[in-house]
Amino acid sequence: MQELNGKLAFVTGSSRGIGRAAALELAAAGCTLIFHGTAPSAALDSAAAEAGENSIKLTADFSDLQAVELLAEKLIREDKVPDILVLNASVQSYTGLGNFDAAEYLRMFNTNVESACILLHRLLPEMRKKMWGRVIFVGSVNGTKPASRLALYGSTKAALMNIAQTAAVENAPFNITVNTILPGVIETDRNAKALSDPEFAAMLKEKIPMHRFGSAGECADLVAFLASPRASYITGAEIPIAGGLQL
Ligand SMILES: NC(=O)c1ccc[n+]([C@@H]2O[C@H](COP(=O)([O-])OP(=O)(O)OC[C@H]3O[C@@H](n4cnc5c(N)ncnc54)[C@H](OP(=O)(O)O)[C@@H]3O)[C@@H](O)[C@H]2O)c1
Repeated sequence: MQELNGKLAFVTGSSRGIGRAAALELAAAGCTLIFHGTAPSAALDSAAAEAGENSIKLTADFSDLQAVELLAEKLIREDKVPDILVLNASVQSYTGLGNFDAAEYLRMFNTNVESACILLHRLLPEMRKKMWGRVIFVGSVNGTKPASRLALYGSTKAALMNIAQTAAVENAPFNITVNTILPGVIETDRNAKALSDPEFAAMLKEKIPMHRFGSAGECADLVAFLASPRASYITGAEIPIAGGLQL
């Protein structure tokens, strides 16, 4: 008997990277998975296929808030309200405050923050009816720790941390826990190009007390633990998974 048998999990941004690994870990624990990517892709197909034939695939570009609304409506209409919601999808760009760009600010906030608010607004009332649930935010150590040219991205993660804490308080009476994982430097497509520069990679490792980067699998293990019955009394937590980079 797997500990999450019969649960439906929706992981945003699960075609690749941390989201993919988390979705597969939840599938291994017995969940049926709703995979999601920006648009149809071979990566999305292969992630869903790996999790099993019952997996569902959805696409929506979260910078388009109408598309997020439609996605939430579809889940409710088709009786696919998740028991476990992992808010993982995000966009990230490097912009010094001196080069502030209002359009980019809006794109990042819509994609990273407002999309999450819409999903919570639409899905939580339905999740509450089941009197059991898990919401796991994928934040970043940049939500609390400043990094050059990451003020806009970091502020989206800081906003999500506040939203997660409020959601934890509001949904505790419904046996829905809400927690945030805070990855440090994790080797995924997102930073593959930057980390392929040996000098940059060595400089970054020097800043990490464990002197290495993390893997998507390590983040997935933490997500699966927070989703499991073993984490039933943990809510409102913000857990760095960063080799000590947060210190
Ligand atoms: N990697 C790190 O070092 C690191 C560190 C701290 C925090 N994080 C956080 O961890 C999460 C996952 O990061 P990752 O490194 O695994 O990212 P990734 O490899 O770049 O994958 C991003 C995922 O999000 C989806 N996505 C991208 N843009 C989207 C959009 N506009 N609308 C909807 N979905 C979109 C992608 O879908 P497509 O495949 O369709 O593009 C993909 O599934 C993010 O929230 C990130 O901020 C990562």
